[in-house]
Amino acid sequence: MPHGPYEDVRVTGHLIDSGIMSRIMDDIVALDGEFETLSFNVGRTNVDPSIAVLRVRAADAAQLDAILGEIGQLGAEPIDADDVRTAPAPADGVFPQGFYATTNLETAVRIAGRWTGVAGTEMDLGIVVAGGAARTVAMADVREGEHVVLGHTGVRVRPVERPREKQEFEFMNSEVSSEKPKALVIRDVAHMLRKVRARGEKIIFVVGPAVVHTGAAEHLARLAKSGYVSVMFGGNAVATHDIESALYGTSLGITMDAGRPAAGGHEHHLRAINTIRGCGGIRGAVEQGVLTTGLMHTLVETGTPYVLAGSIRDDGPLPDVITDVLEAQRVMRAHCQEAGACVMLSTMLHSIATGNMLPARVTTVCVDINPAVVTKLADRGSFQTIGIVTDVGLFLEMLADEVERPHLGR
Ligand SMILES: NC(=O)c1ccc[n+]([C@@H]2O[C@H](COP(=O)([O-])OP(=O)(O)OC[C@H]3O[C@@H](n4cnc5c(N)ncnc54)[C@H](O)[C@@H]3O)[C@@H](O)[C@H]2O)c1
Repeated sequence: MPHGPYEDVRVTGHLIDSGIMSRIMDDIVALDGEFETLSFNVGRTNVDPSIAVLRVRAADAAQLDAILGEIGQLGAEPIDADDVRTAPAPADGVFPQGFYATTNLETAVRIAGRWTGVAGTEMDLGIVVAGGAARTVAMADVREGEHVVLGHTGVRVRPVERPREKQEFEFMNSEVSSEKPKALVIRDVAHMLRKVRARGEKIIFVVGPAVVHTGAAEHLARLAKSGYVSVMFGGNAVATHDIESALYGTSLGITMDAGRPAAGGHEHHLRAINTIRGCGGIRGAVEQGVLTTGLMHTLVETGTPYVLAGSIRDDGPLPDVITDVLEAQRVMRAHCQEAGACVMLSTMLHSIATGNMLPARVTTVCVDINPAVVTKLADRGSFQTIGIVTDVGLFLEMLADEVERPHLGR
């Protein structure tokens, strides 16, 4: 082993079958470092964890820090860890140089010799330490003088390991499916949602307007009525076109019953938005008896919260749309922390936004007709993210049927 600084790191867990050990070794070599295995105790049974101690050496301190940062994301932690280092934020909305950028994995920092969990697992944020506690903070929300974590020293990340018990998705054995029998895939999704609901965790549905265009909004409303939608995320379009279909029987001007363009139909969504604006919002329209059917009506009637985030293409928008994107992020972020599952339906914009806010532990299902969108989402996790390439209308109808069907304990 050449000269240069080194650090001894320990890694504990199901290192072999999760592939973590080989990924750590690959990362060290890819970053031009070297390793020596000082000890490797392999768990004797399938529930025993393995423990490895590696000496990691690099050409200089900066390279060693980069390697430790990379393998730290896989759970490798220095044996002689120092306390976390911090520096004050120089101004509101500005992190100090060299700030630590978070991952979507459970994280802890070492404060005064003790490992302390970081509240609010989310990627691409900073960490603020105050009064012996630590929490993630978005760049826009950091305040001048807050103590922000620097570098990788004293930061520990716990990778999500493949569970040893029966897999959540029994049928699925690849992350993106286009050529699988849909009924079996949907049975697995329904089973997963039942389990999440039984654990009392939230289920987020992220919904694009294709759900309305394909006539599937009524099936999502069925899921909401049976308690499977804890919160709906979307934009102006999904709510607008749902309300258009409730008021005019069209979606984007196309009749829902015959699938034909209606005369003057291209204006229907604008008239729908205008009507809701006149009522002061969607709830107002329901209370005034103006909006009496549809998905948004069901959400109001069932007390299901929704977050409509604004975007540059919005007509109107509806008064319920949060047009300040930072405020929309804050509201979505709070729901994401309580989620056990997230089902993303035919919206690239809102699915990717939500994907970036979810902790890696959240089981995620992404349904889109475009494989590129599904692959992008599936890439952010492995076994806990399932991509389904199919028409969202057919998917939702089958899913609503499946969760309503009596099941035999599975
Ligand atoms: N009138 C309006 O105000 C208006 C209209 C359109 C969009 N918007 C806004 O623009 C933003 C982005 O809109 P978006 O989410 O519709 O667009 P997007 O491009 O982000 O996503 C649409 C996705 O739906 C998928 N898709 C289309 N048909 C499908 C089907 N039948 N089955 C499965 N997947 C299907 C596409 O592949 C695509 O990935 C949103 O915030 C929305 O509210 C506003």
